[in-house]
Amino acid sequence: ARLVVLVSGSGTNLQALLDAIAADPAGYGAEVVAVGADRDGIAGLERAERAGLPTFVCRVKDHPTRDAWDRALTEATAAYEPDLVVSAGFMKIVGKEFLARFEGRVVNTHPALLPSFPGAHGVRDALAYGAKVTGCTVHFVDDGVDTGPIIAQGVVEVRDEDDESALHERIKEVERELLVDVVGRLARNGYRIEGRKVRIP
Ligand code: GRF
Repeated sequence: ARLVVLVSGSGTNLQALLDAIAADPAGYGAEVVAVGADRDGIAGLERAERAGLPTFVCRVKDHPTRDAWDRALTEATAAYEPDLVVSAGFMKIVGKEFLARFEGRVVNTHPALLPSFPGAHGVRDALAYGAKVTGCTVHFVDDGVDTGPIIAQGVVEVRDEDDESALHERIKEVERELLVDVVGRLARNGYRIEGRKVRIP
């Protein structure tokens, strides 16, 4: 399967996918064909370049409207003919054109146990709330914010001494493994989305 991965930051989830594919190129069942971002100068793009992958950057501020940005992102992504789009720390909400083109084939990873703590500060919100466990969720993207059908989740305990970054790092250890496992299974086995249920044979 052809993967386009979208990033906004350090790209450690992207790196985990690249490492899993490099470790078993024939067996993993997917290859990253391009990496897209919403901003320049991030480690995620450097990781893609080090891996010799094509990259593209779609910045909201380069477009007159949000819809124009969404259209540009859709076209840039579609140019690589992905079977699956993986949003790995991509910090923008894709729009209706993107979903019209790719809904049902866009997977996102979120650093909390959805439906708890959706949005851009899931780790901070769980910590502030006093949650005793949190974790990460890999789900299909729909037209809401972190609301699509859940594929897999991983639980991470919250420790008394945790601050946001310590907790996020511990979540990311689980998240990377979860994302690599889910993307590989979706790619190798195929899947069906039945309402809020995801079936992977
Ligand atoms: C991940 O925890 C992702 O869930 C969140 O931001 C982090 C991105 O990390 N949205 P990285 O860029 O993959 O290192």
